[in-house]
Amino acid sequence: MSKIAIVYWSGTGNTEAMADLVAQGVRAKGSDADLISATDFGPECLDEYEAYAFGCPAMGDEELEDTEFLPMYDAVEPLLEGKRVALFGSYDWNDGEWMELWEQRAEEAGLVVVDSVIAKDYPDDDASADCMRLGSLIAQ
Ligand SMILES: Cc1cc2nc3c(=O)[nH]c(=O)nc-3n(C[C@H](O)[C@H](O)[C@H](O)COP(=O)(O)O)c2cc1C
Repeated sequence: MSKIAIVYWSGTGNTEAMADLVAQGVRAKGSDADLISATDFGPECLDEYEAYAFGCPAMGDEELEDTEFLPMYDAVEPLLEGKRVALFGSYDWNDGEWMELWEQRAEEAGLVVVDSVIAKDYPDDDASADCMRLGSLIAQ
C-alpha cells in the first residue's frame, strides 16, 4: 500500500480544507494519507512516502508563503527529482498565477507534477471534487 504525504500551510483554513479533501481522495484509493503541517515536514521525512501533495495559498504577490512553507519547500524540492507530486492551494483576488509559477518551478527542478488544483477562497463543490480527484491521482 502506498503512503502519501499531504504537506500544507494555511492561514485561514481554506487550503487546510483542500488538504482534507485530497486526503479523502488518497484514502478512497486504499492508500495511506498523512496530513502534515509545513512546519512539521522536512528532508528527513521524505523516505517514508511514495508521493507527495503540497498545498499553499497565494500569498505575497503571487508567491508561496515565505515564513514557514517556502523554507520547507526550498529544502525538499531538490531532493524530489523524479518523484510524483500534486500541488494545490487557495487564492482570492487574482487568477491563479502563483500556481502557474509554482508548477513551472517544480517541473524545472525535475519533479513530476501529476496535476494541480486551485480553489477561490473556501473550496466549493467543484473544487472539492477536484481535490478528491487529485488525491486519487497522486495515490496511483
Ligand atoms: C498576505 C496575503 C497575501 C495574499 N496574496 C494573494 C495573491 O497574491 N493573490 C491572490 O489571488 N490571493 C492572495 N491572497 C488571498 C489568499 O490567497 C486567500 O485568502 C486564500 O484563500 C487563503 O488561503 P488559506 O485560508 O489557506 O490561508 C493573499 C492573502 C494574504 C493574507
